[in-house]
Amino acid sequence: MNETNGFVKNGTEIKNVFDFLSSKSSHEFYETVYDFLKQTGKQLPEDQAFYTFDLADILWKTQLWNEKLPNVTPYYAVKANADPVLMKLFVLLGYGFDCSTEGEIRLAIKSGADPRKIIFAHTIKTRKALRYASSIGADLMTFDSKEELFKISEEFPTARLILRLKAEGGQEVYNLSKKFGSDLSAAEELLLQAKELNLNIVGISFHVGGLCENSNVYTSAIEKSRLVFEAAQKYGFKFTIMDIGAGFFGSTEKEYIFRKVSQDIKKSLEGNFPNGDVEFIAEPGCYCVGSAVSLTTSILGKKSVHQKETNQISREYFVSDSFYGSFFEHHDMYDVKPVPVLVSFLIVFTIISAEMGFRKTEKRIVLIPNL
Ligand SMILES: Cc1ncc(COP(=O)(O)O)c(C=O)c1O
Repeated sequence: MNETNGFVKNGTEIKNVFDFLSSKSSHEFYETVYDFLKQTGKQLPEDQAFYTFDLADILWKTQLWNEKLPNVTPYYAVKANADPVLMKLFVLLGYGFDCSTEGEIRLAIKSGADPRKIIFAHTIKTRKALRYASSIGADLMTFDSKEELFKISEEFPTARLILRLKAEGGQEVYNLSKKFGSDLSAAEELLLQAKELNLNIVGISFHVGGLCENSNVYTSAIEKSRLVFEAAQKYGFKFTIMDIGAGFFGSTEKEYIFRKVSQDIKKSLEGNFPNGDVEFIAEPGCYCVGSAVSLTTSILGKKSVHQKETNQISREYFVSDSFYGSFFEHHDMYDVKPVPVLVSFLIVFTIISAEMGFRKTEKRIVLIPNL
């Protein structure tokens, strides 16, 4: 290591993963992605961490989605991961985009998205964002309040509106319906207000909350939505879009939950909207990328801790990423797991981010120790 705290490899100073990738040292043949991660991790200074994406995993998820929910077009929720390469891949795979901010819409457009296949899915939007959406013809958007209807009528009166309903089951890991969505009982008032403002409501959306295992939450929200489809006719609206939101597990280990939930959703959509005149869309985020992203990071140090209950000594390892970085509150729910592997006679630890591609590519997130 030299005094600038980077490695010098073949005359190139390696301070971070980008330096390494553009250096000659990285231009070698690697048998597996895992070998690449191992080598790259070893070349980097100890405080560096980086992500790797498994694009094949996203193809697999897309194939599974098409098999299980063939009539539901996925609008990728950009907030899940806004990497520009991923965005381009989603465009190529025919996804629409769920954007919650002007910035996300700009990114989707820059990545080649069709503005008509973007849903502005935040129910509260800035006037500036509405004007931008209007200027590019991204006209599909959600709302859940009269106040937003007034704003939209001033900034984008020709928008195609989706009324967001609350959907709760009490089992989801994070509940979005505390903050977003209208009660069924308030929906008619919103229909009336939109009618008075001469606005165009075209459908219903909901979001069951994150990591929802219970199909009943989806199916009861679909039934509630159908009631609003029927009520809307009284006000002269012809609804054509049913947006079932997201809440699907992305981990390979929990794939069985998606298989079960998707089967029940498909049945419920077919039962509630049998005429073929309604377009089904969804807003998956975690499902699409949860198992496709790996983190490589190093172990910065360790600590031995006496456990009073068991009278045993446990080891705690500290890594170069944190709760305020990759490991946010519910990371344990996303199946992030440490798994030990051996690198150059040193024990290192791997983390499988949502078991990403493990089964198929043997890929891991490698933690390189400096003990
Ligand atoms: C409106 C909306 N759509 C989609 C998503 C993505 O949901 P998930 O992470 O469950 O895939 C979210 C997540 O917060 C959201 O708020």
